[in-house]
Amino acid sequence: MFDLKDKVIVVTGAAGTLCSAIVEDFAKNGARVALLGRTRSKVVALSEKLNNEGCCTLGICADVTSELDLKEALAIIKENWGDPDILINGAGGKDHRALTEGVEFTPEELSGDANGFFGIHSEAFDAELAMNIQGTVLPSKIFGAGIARKGKGSIINFASMNSYRPLSRAPAYAIAKAGILNFTQWLAAYLAPAGVRVNAVAPGFFINERSRKLLMTDDGGFSERGQQVVSHTPMKRFGEAAEMVGAVRYLIDDQQAAFVTGICLPVDGGFLSCSGL
Ligand SMILES: NC(=O)c1ccc[n+]([C@@H]2O[C@H](COP(=O)([O-])OP(=O)(O)OC[C@H]3O[C@@H](n4cnc5c(N)ncnc54)[C@H](OP(=O)(O)O)[C@@H]3O)[C@@H](O)[C@H]2O)c1
Repeated sequence: MFDLKDKVIVVTGAAGTLCSAIVEDFAKNGARVALLGRTRSKVVALSEKLNNEGCCTLGICADVTSELDLKEALAIIKENWGDPDILINGAGGKDHRALTEGVEFTPEELSGDANGFFGIHSEAFDAELAMNIQGTVLPSKIFGAGIARKGKGSIINFASMNSYRPLSRAPAYAIAKAGILNFTQWLAAYLAPAGVRVNAVAPGFFINERSRKLLMTDDGGFSERGQQVVSHTPMKRFGEAAEMVGAVRYLIDDQQAAFVTGICLPVDGGFLSCSGL
């Protein structure tokens, strides 16, 4: 297994559902992990918990859409540990104001009686694009330079099932995640001469704080949409955050994945392979 000891790893969205499991695995296997997140209290709490267990982490408040925040984060990381070896671009998500209420057009939206595409909140739409796209491009720019300086390392982006085919209701998220897949391929080709591999993971459906309301009922059952997801998932369940760890570990492994760059690895219980018929 790839030795993580003393590797300097930057993780954005570090205190989130999926990345907190990834961070914990890295930190408990000897990596020096910089936990970046938008809410200071969340990254500081996770960092303190891990450091109390003997790990070596830094909790840094940084908005991934702010070049200034990211440069300040890099300065802190360099002062403590030097340039990064690995970047995990985990920050991302949806803004509920940029969702359509229904899955398809209804005449009611023309009279303003339904929140459809024609009435979608333009600022929220733009912010969602920025959070996901700029939030992947900017950290790749700010931290990727340090990885290239070392001449070896990798970047992992977070794609989605939306990267392949848009799901209903979330057009901004679908555009952004398709863009992230495309950017992964572009950056992989661009950075190959620098010794930096760039890949993505595409989670299927994992329950997080926001999706719980959408996919589950109060008594722990599946909502109508949750049931639709599960019935299109051959393994008939949602993923567990810990199930993302192996895919990320493989892709950052400089021996096992030495010739792997520009790919996107789905972790989806078979969702992509299932037509639903
Ligand atoms: N869960 C799924 O089923 C699923 C499926 C496909 C793809 N994904 C992708 O996987 C990644 C992780 O998802 P998740 O389920 O773990 O989501 P999550 O629990 O909502 O975590 C996302 C994290 O990103 C942080 N974040 C959001 N905007 C940020 C910004 N501007 N600057 C810095 N940090 C920011 C959030 O911080 P705050 O809490 O402080 O806002 C949060 O800690 C995301 O890219 C998501 O799109 C998830």
